[in-house]
Amino acid sequence: MRLSALPFLLMALFASLSPAQAQTAAPTGKVLVVYFSHSGNTAVVARMIQEATGGDSFAIEPVAAYPTAYDAVVDQAKKELNADFRPALKSTGPDLAAYDTIFVGSPNWWSTIAPPVMTFLEAHNFAGKTIVPFITHEGSRMGKSVQDVKRFSPGATVLSGQPFRGSDVKDAREDVRRWLRDLKLLK
Ligand SMILES: Cc1cc2nc3c(=O)[nH]c(=O)nc-3n(C[C@H](O)[C@H](O)[C@H](O)COP(=O)(O)O)c2cc1C
Repeated sequence: MRLSALPFLLMALFASLSPAQAQTAAPTGKVLVVYFSHSGNTAVVARMIQEATGGDSFAIEPVAAYPTAYDAVVDQAKKELNADFRPALKSTGPDLAAYDTIFVGSPNWWSTIAPPVMTFLEAHNFAGKTIVPFITHEGSRMGKSVQDVKRFSPGATVLSGQPFRGSDVKDAREDVRRWLRDLKLLK
């Protein structure tokens, strides 16, 4: 185990102590899958969701790419989150008017969603929409992502969402389908 993973394992311990939240509503209508992925895991899950729902998808891309070196991106993410920084995006994505249900995917970065996802959420009006968060992580599961998604999307119905272990995403297809079946969103 890398020593740098230790804080995440501690956060995972706390995450495992909090009670599971129930899904609150079955989403309906046209589906959009929006995601940010730094090292590819969240993109894999996003693709599985997109294929299984028949929805559209949009990849959030910051103008300035994050460093690929693990310690550098961990350090930069910490600084950005502490400073409440919102990185500029290459595009804020499609007009959301056509969509009722929007999956929002992010890697768990320091127990929350990555800053580019915050930029995306703040750029849109989600009133009346259903947001379904999904997170890839290495132990902290959803962390406080759902609370933060709610904070950035006033008026939306935000479901409890689904965590996926980043290192296991290749094998997540059946878990994705089971989850989507429960949400009544399998095409
Ligand atoms: C900047 C940074 C912060 C991270 N913070 C956490 C964390 O707090 N808890 C956790 O379980 N995993 C954490 N991870 C691991 C990622 O959430 C995990 O590897 C994820 O699957 C990466 O998704 P991606 O490949 O789509 O970028 C962090 C990774 C990075 C790069």
